[in-house]
Amino acid sequence: MHTFFLILHNWMRWVVILLGLWAWFSAFTQFMGDKKYLPVHRRSGLLFMISCDLQLLIGIILYIVGGWLSRWSEMSQTMQQASARFFTVEHETLMIIAWILVHVGWSRVKKAQSDQQKLARSLVFFGIALLLIIIAIPWPFREVARPWLRT
Ligand code: HEM
Repeated sequence: MHTFFLILHNWMRWVVILLGLWAWFSAFTQFMGDKKYLPVHRRSGLLFMISCDLQLLIGIILYIVGGWLSRWSEMSQTMQQASARFFTVEHETLMIIAWILVHVGWSRVKKAQSDQQKLARSLVFFGIALLLIIIAIPWPFREVARPWLRT
């Protein structure tokens, strides 16, 4: 079961990033152009948010079945090992902050008074969230490295 969710979580990262880039760049091009908030912006933002929700859910499952939860009881040892610290604390903290930003952003976009304000809020909230997600991923070139695509 662990392997299945690990592969899913690994592949799903690409879906999250692609949808995030779509949401951000479609807002960016309109912000620089006609400044109209179009159905494509609503659709891409919504899909980005849903993909983050799914990834969070899979992440929580992995956190439990992968035994990371029990690492909290041996915190001093956990904090000394880069990989244990990363997956017990750093990865999820940053990803949960990103997830909150996407949700707060989505509701602020809906409440915005003008199209320009909607686009600006999409750019700020989705942009910062996407940046945090990219920073918190265990890319193959990092100290705590995981494969580009797990099979
Ligand atoms: C958009 C959000 C997230 C992205 C893009 C993401 C991405 C990733 C990636 C690429 C890996 C490496 C997978 C592999 O080893 O092949 C990973 C591992 C992991 N993620 Fe996430 N993650 C996200 C959110 C979360 C959250 C919110 C949690 C927990 C609450 C979480 C828990 C974990 C755990 C525990 C592992 C390590 C699994 C293991 O090796 O046992 N992730 N994540």
